[in-house]
Amino acid sequence: MNAPSTGTAAVPGTDSPVFAVDGLWKVFGPRRKAVRIPESEYASLPAAELREQTGCTAAVRDVTFDVRKGEVFVVMGLSGSGKSTLVRCMTRLIEPTAGSLSIDGEDVLAMDAARLRELRRHRAAMVFQHFGLLPHRTVLDNVAYGLEIQGVSRIDRRAKAAEMVAKVGLEGLEERRPGQLSGGQQQRVGLARALAADPEVLLFDEPFSALDPLIRREMQDEVARLHHEEGRTMVFITHDLTEALRLGDRIALMRDGKIVQLGTPEEIVGSPADDYVRDFVRDVPREQVITVRSAMRPAVAGEAEHGPALAPAATVVEAIEAVARCGGPARVVDRGRCLGVVDDAGLLAVVAGLPTPDGRGVAA
Ligand SMILES: Nc1ncnc2c1ncn2[C@@H]1O[C@H](COP(=O)(O)OP(=O)(O)O)[C@@H](O)[C@H]1O
Ligand SMILES: [Mg+2]
Repeated sequence: MNAPSTGTAAVPGTDSPVFAVDGLWKVFGPRRKAVRIPESEYASLPAAELREQTGCTAAVRDVTFDVRKGEVFVVMGLSGSGKSTLVRCMTRLIEPTAGSLSIDGEDVLAMDAARLRELRRHRAAMVFQHFGLLPHRTVLDNVAYGLEIQGVSRIDRRAKAAEMVAKVGLEGLEERRPGQLSGGQQQRVGLARALAADPEVLLFDEPFSALDPLIRREMQDEVARLHHEEGRTMVFITHDLTEALRLGDRIALMRDGKIVQLGTPEEIVGSPADDYVRDFVRDVPREQVITVRSAMRPAVAGEAEHGPALAPAATVVEAIEAVARCGGPARVVDRGRCLGVVDDAGLLAVVAGLPTPDGRGVAA
């Protein structure tokens, strides 16, 4: 998450992974046929050809990644690239065809029905685009619904639900029905419902796609705030690059069922893995994503002692403001140590898409 990293949020990447996904495949089609595809010569065919030749659709193809504790892991890709299939495979709402999958070291593919129910209710809760709110129930009862299924007592679940309603900013609307709420408010109810179960991981499948841009932005801020406050691990699916860059600690970019690049927003924008990714990020304002860590150069005589100080994770936009105000280079300081300086030439190079001083080009 791109929010300031103070507060109580867990430090991403300091523990063993929450989800570990390895060589995962999902091939739709007659089962006997589908299971043979990952190991066959068809495995490397483009999706359309595979479909033509076998009648099967490989929606997820040999996908490998970890979701680290406390991070927002974004899966991004165009419509049809396999994002929904992938996230549904993670709790076996869709049964993977091949590969391995674990949560906190426990093999998800070996779970029986009861254990799977437990997984979906308590450990990895899905937030869908259409929240499936119950129209005849109040906001409070909708939020309490998941807890009701879990067998939590009425008093306890209403107390918990009220707490979550407040958390997502819906205080005062507890007794309304979903039909009496705006789209954004309905999304908040869905979010509160997922949070009420206190899952270890929240899985979002394009929850904000149907919202108009302003409300969408508001909901992104809401997710960012919740993540910042609680440090809850999140897997967030989106086809929207801006959303991915705003929310993701790391982004997996999918194309045709495969991950074509996995990295931080800065890595994806600054060092695209291939022409497809380069094309994808072409219009991103680099200065909003690239950090001063990649735009700095070594300090020379006296520079390490003077000028405004920036954290290594500060963006080039922030640095431009600092440099413009003081009229000279700004220092990049980490725990009291000066790592280097950024000056107008280095910052303009980023904006212009020219190679940065550390040699990692940001050119398009
Ligand atoms: N139940 C299904 N049966 C056959 N093909 C499917 C099924 N679900 C999805 N697909 C296909 O798998 C591919 C990936 O779909 P999906 O995971 O929904 O992509 P995304 O969420 O990125 O839009 C698409 O080609 C889609 O048509
Ligand atoms: Mg989808």
